[in-house]
Amino acid sequence: MKVLVLGSGAREHAVVWKFSETLGKDSLFAAPGNAGMAEAATLLTLSSETDNEAVVKVCRDYGIDFVFVGPEIPLANGVVDALTEAGIAAFGPHKEAAQLESSKVFSKEFMNRHRIPTAEAQEFQNPDDFIAYIEKTNGKVVVKKSGLAAGKGVLESDDKKALLEFGTEILKTDKLLVEEFLSGYEISIFVLMDGKHYAILPPCADFKKAGDGDNGPNTGGMGAICPVPCVTPELKKEISKEIVEPVMAGLQKDGLTYKGLLYIGLMITADGPKVLEFNVRFGDPETQPLLAALPCCFEFLAAALRDQKLDELETEGAFDLAGKAAVGVVVAAEGYPGPYKKNCEVTALPENRSDLTVFHAATVRGEDGKLRTAGGRCFTVVGVAETLSEAAKKAYDGVRQLHFEGCWSRSDIGKKFF
Ligand code: AMP
Ligand code: GLY
Repeated sequence: MKVLVLGSGAREHAVVWKFSETLGKDSLFAAPGNAGMAEAATLLTLSSETDNEAVVKVCRDYGIDFVFVGPEIPLANGVVDALTEAGIAAFGPHKEAAQLESSKVFSKEFMNRHRIPTAEAQEFQNPDDFIAYIEKTNGKVVVKKSGLAAGKGVLESDDKKALLEFGTEILKTDKLLVEEFLSGYEISIFVLMDGKHYAILPPCADFKKAGDGDNGPNTGGMGAICPVPCVTPELKKEISKEIVEPVMAGLQKDGLTYKGLLYIGLMITADGPKVLEFNVRFGDPETQPLLAALPCCFEFLAAALRDQKLDELETEGAFDLAGKAAVGVVVAAEGYPGPYKKNCEVTALPENRSDLTVFHAATVRGEDGKLRTAGGRCFTVVGVAETLSEAAKKAYDGVRQLHFEGCWSRSDIGKKFF
C-alpha cells in the first residue's frame, strides 16, 4: 500500500511515525510535511493543501492508494470528495459531513435535531439582535464564531463589553452562537468510523491554555494525556449510550457517515456529559500521546477502513492501550500564542526511544543541514509508561534535553489528573 499523509503538524508526524512501523520511505509520503517526517517519509511538494486538483494529481503521479488527511481545512474544502471521485481511498469526511466542524451552526442544529446533550445556544446573524441579547444576559456566557477559526473563535466571559466587541467583529464576516456556559472537566473522545462500524478510542484530554494551572490565553493546545483516569468504566458506558450512540444514529439518518474519525469534545458536567464541539479529524496534540501508546498498526487500519472491517481490528485489541499511559508536552516558540520568533536553530534534541518520542510540528532543515523552527508550536515530546505521572516524568526529561532560543512549555501537563 502506498500512503500519503496530508499536513505538516506534530499530529501528522505521529501518523507518519505510526505508518512507518510497517511502511518504508518508498511507500510512505507526506505533503507538505516537516523536517521530522522527512526521516520516515518521502516529502512531496504541493502548491497548496487546499488545491484539491493538485492533491489528486500528486496521488496519480506517485501511485498513492490511500490518503490520510490530517487537518480540517482541506476536509472542509472537499478534498475527500475529489479523491473519491478519482478512485483514491481517503481517510476523512466528505465536504457535507465536514460541516460538523466547519460550521458550529450546522453542528448545533445536528445536535438539537438528534437530541444530543449539549449547551443551550442561540444563533445570531444580525448585530442589533446580538447586542440586545447580550445586554440581557447574566453571568458567564460563551460566544462562538460559526466557521473555522483555528482555536481563536471562542470567548467565555461575563464581561459584556468584551463579549460585544468579540461578537460584533465576528458578525462582520460570519454567523455566531451564544451558548450557555458549562462547568466541569473536558475530555476528547475519538470515534473511528469505516462507514459501517465504529470504534471508540481511549479517552484523551488536552490542555488549551498557555499558562500553568489552565491560566492565560487559549492556544492550539500545550499538551495532552491519554487515557484520562477519571473516565471510569461507568462513565465510558454513559458516554457511549448518551452521546456516541445517538451521534452515530444521527449521522446515519442524515446521510453523513464517512470513513475517518469523529472527534467529540465533551464537558463532563454534574448533569452528565455534554458535547462542546465536533471535529472531523484527529485532535492535535491529543493524537501524539494516543498514537504513542496505541498498539494499532496504521497500515492495517487503513486497509480495515477501506474494506469496512474495523470490527475485526477492534476484536484483535488494536485499540486497547493494555495498561499503557502517555503524556505529550508541546514545546513552543518565544511569544506564542502571540507573535512569535521563527527560524531559531534547534541546538539539542533528545534521541527517540521506545518510551520517549519527539514529534516535530513546525520545523525545517536548511541547506546547511541545521534544524530550525518555523512556527509557534514546534514539537510535542511524548513519554510512555505504565502510569501517567511516570509518563509525564519521561516527557519532561525529554523536554529538558530539547533546546532552541526562547523555547518554553507548560510545566504541569497532566498534573490535575494524576
Ligand atoms: P469549541 O471550539 O467549541 O470546542 O470551544 C473551544 C473551547 O472553549 C472548548 O474546548 C472549551 O474549553 C470552551 N468552551 C466552548 N464551549 C463552551 C461552553 N458552552 N461552556 C464552557 N466552555 C466552553
Ligand atoms: N485539541 C483540540 C483540537 O484538535 O481541535
